[in-house]
Amino acid sequence: MTSNPLELLAPQDLVLIGATGDLGVGRLLPAVYNLFLDSRLPPQGSVIGFAREPYSREEFQHLAAEAVRQNSRRAFDATVWARFCERLDYVPADAGGLEEVRRRCTQPQRLVYLAIPPPAFEGVAEGLAEAGLTEGTRLIVEKPFGFDTRSARALNQVLRRYFDERQIFRIDHYLGKETVQNILVFRFANAIFERIWHREAIDEMQITVAESAGIGQRGRFYEQMGALRDIAQNHLIQVLTLLTMEPPAFYDPDAIHDEKIKVLHATEPVRPENVVRGQYTSGVVEGEVVPGYLEEPGVHPESETETYIALKASINNWRWSGVPFYLRSGKRLPRRVTEVHVQFRRAPVAFFKGMDFHNVNPNHLTIRIQPEEGITISFLAKEPGPTLQLRPARMHYPYPESFMTAPPEAYERLLHDAMAGDRTLFIREDIMERAWEVIQPVLDHPPPVHLYQAGTWGPPAADELISPYFWHLH
Ligand code: BG6
Repeated sequence: MTSNPLELLAPQDLVLIGATGDLGVGRLLPAVYNLFLDSRLPPQGSVIGFAREPYSREEFQHLAAEAVRQNSRRAFDATVWARFCERLDYVPADAGGLEEVRRRCTQPQRLVYLAIPPPAFEGVAEGLAEAGLTEGTRLIVEKPFGFDTRSARALNQVLRRYFDERQIFRIDHYLGKETVQNILVFRFANAIFERIWHREAIDEMQITVAESAGIGQRGRFYEQMGALRDIAQNHLIQVLTLLTMEPPAFYDPDAIHDEKIKVLHATEPVRPENVVRGQYTSGVVEGEVVPGYLEEPGVHPESETETYIALKASINNWRWSGVPFYLRSGKRLPRRVTEVHVQFRRAPVAFFKGMDFHNVNPNHLTIRIQPEEGITISFLAKEPGPTLQLRPARMHYPYPESFMTAPPEAYERLLHDAMAGDRTLFIREDIMERAWEVIQPVLDHPPPVHLYQAGTWGPPAADELISPYFWHLH
């Protein structure tokens, strides 16, 4: 069942495995601090960091304080922090391992977060079992979940050896974003939109996940991933699924997951000829000169890993047959923006006879996932005056301003849901495997990599892929 966020969580410990890594420092420790600030951590239980670094408890607390100072959405408060630290513990991996974690746990229930690279998942799952940490445990498994369809299946089998599916929470932080959650509300709570959410009204749909950042210090990791595994297999496909699934019978995890798997079964595995891969060369992004991918630390000088991906997907069912879906994502693009663009079919040409507007396709809807979250509908309006002159107009709904509130970060929401046992926003085993199957042909036969200059919108081949349409950003 879905959880009631106002209900008190059961007492439990929270064990962050890989707590000192980029994810731990950048997102998890700040998220846990914000949950504590909102009194949304369980009333009792420790927060235990576990990682290779041989830190003392105090050293880890110091690192965590820095992580919060730099990355928390709300300011560091020394008094709150002192109270939080009473619960914040650390176990270095070589000081008794997971056995020691079990000894430090204070509650019979716990949430264990695997914020570690995929090759380590199996060993840690085994280690948790050996340490007697399976019963009473819920396990969050970070992405990338496997490397391809086969390894994802193998990983599911390993996890299922020790844990029941109901204990496993496969995370995709995009599903915790407010604007991504709002997609289902927008579609299914508003009859006016659902009626036109169909191939008879929609011409094409686009999803863009653009980042101005490069790969930072993650070169070695990214070399094995590329944009296809890092973003397309998970974030892009999850957003596509929410945009295209049928209405679930209830707002309930199984009902939602059943609809997601149905539409993914109707999604054709992507053909390599419908894919453009790109890699950034040096350039200027947001006024700063940046190196090319091949000059980044940890990257092989002849690497063919893609930092940009654009693909065309097709869904063969009654609702979507014939509608192309264009998905793209890239690093070192001109700005950070995630957006859905829905292009509606044009009005009959006869109406525009003799006017300039018969070539435009004016009706589109934009869902801005981030930043400046919002929804915009574009249409044509009559310009005031004695003749019939049309001008584009729009209705805009700015998401945060409308509610005058700063929404929680995705990781706060997802950590809380997992502690409450709510699986709605996590990925079920079959959905994870199918998402890999959808991109598997491209992993098997990757098309060549095109270069693009950092600070541009990717290789020109991506414009050819989408032709006769154009990539849109609001
Ligand atoms: C992660 C990817 O899953 O998502 C990163 O591994 C990417 O490469 C990040 O930068 C983007 O997340 P967000 O929330 O900043 O859009």
